[in-house]
Amino acid sequence: MSRRNKIWILLLIFGLVLSLAGCGSGGTSSQQEGTAGDKVYIVGAEPTFPPFEYTDEATGEIVGFDVDLIKAIAEAAGIQVEVQSLGFDGLIPALQAGNIDIVIAGMTVTEERAAAVDFGPTYWEAYLQIAVAADNEEIKSVEDLQGKTVGVQIGTTGALKAEELKSEGIVKEVKTYNTVDVVFLELMNGTVDAVINDRPVTEIYMARNPGKVKLTGEPFEGEEYAYAVAKGNTELLNKLNAGLEEVKASGKFDELVMEYFGGE
Ligand code: ARG
Repeated sequence: MSRRNKIWILLLIFGLVLSLAGCGSGGTSSQQEGTAGDKVYIVGAEPTFPPFEYTDEATGEIVGFDVDLIKAIAEAAGIQVEVQSLGFDGLIPALQAGNIDIVIAGMTVTEERAAAVDFGPTYWEAYLQIAVAADNEEIKSVEDLQGKTVGVQIGTTGALKAEELKSEGIVKEVKTYNTVDVVFLELMNGTVDAVINDRPVTEIYMARNPGKVKLTGEPFEGEEYAYAVAKGNTELLNKLNAGLEEVKASGKFDELVMEYFGGE
């Protein structure tokens, strides 16, 4: 064989190896669900929000009601999804930038957000409520937040509520943290006097820290959770909405509610 032919054969083999490696690089994530098509839709969540999304300590995987719900929806819709962890205040910008395709994060539908992204139908209703250290006998209502420091997760409706109470001259200072676990740590450390957060999530932090945290005052007005896609992505939104309908009709939705909320 001539030297020239040898080089050609080597080049051919090299090309073949490269193309095989290219084929193998997709479809390896353990968090994918569904089968049809090659596209994997990236779902953004912020996993310090149990039981909606949290990190499984043993596996490091993002799990929770929202995660199981979006996987069930994807399966019903015949699409593939992969869940990624992001900062809560980065979720909507990431949707807008096209870095992720879907947000499911215990996210409340607000007018401002609905102007930036397209929400699906409400799948859950919750309430914001004040939480304090278990031995706090001082704060029993919104008025009692007079002159107090309130801790919240950045970018949340709890943060908005705290800022609103500050501008009304009630709350003295609002401290924002990136994750909800730190919000509760700072409450237990006494860095903040109170927390404003979604009640079902606060209840989980109470259970995780027995005798340390308690709810107080009346719940604020309702918070309606929905998933979101980028503005104008009706094709994906329609698929998800049809999937949600199927998940509800099949009883799978109620199964998940039982699993995570004990049939609430
Ligand atoms: N429901 C609140 C909101 O929409 C809090 C959501 C926080 N979610 C999270 N995954 N940390 O602003």
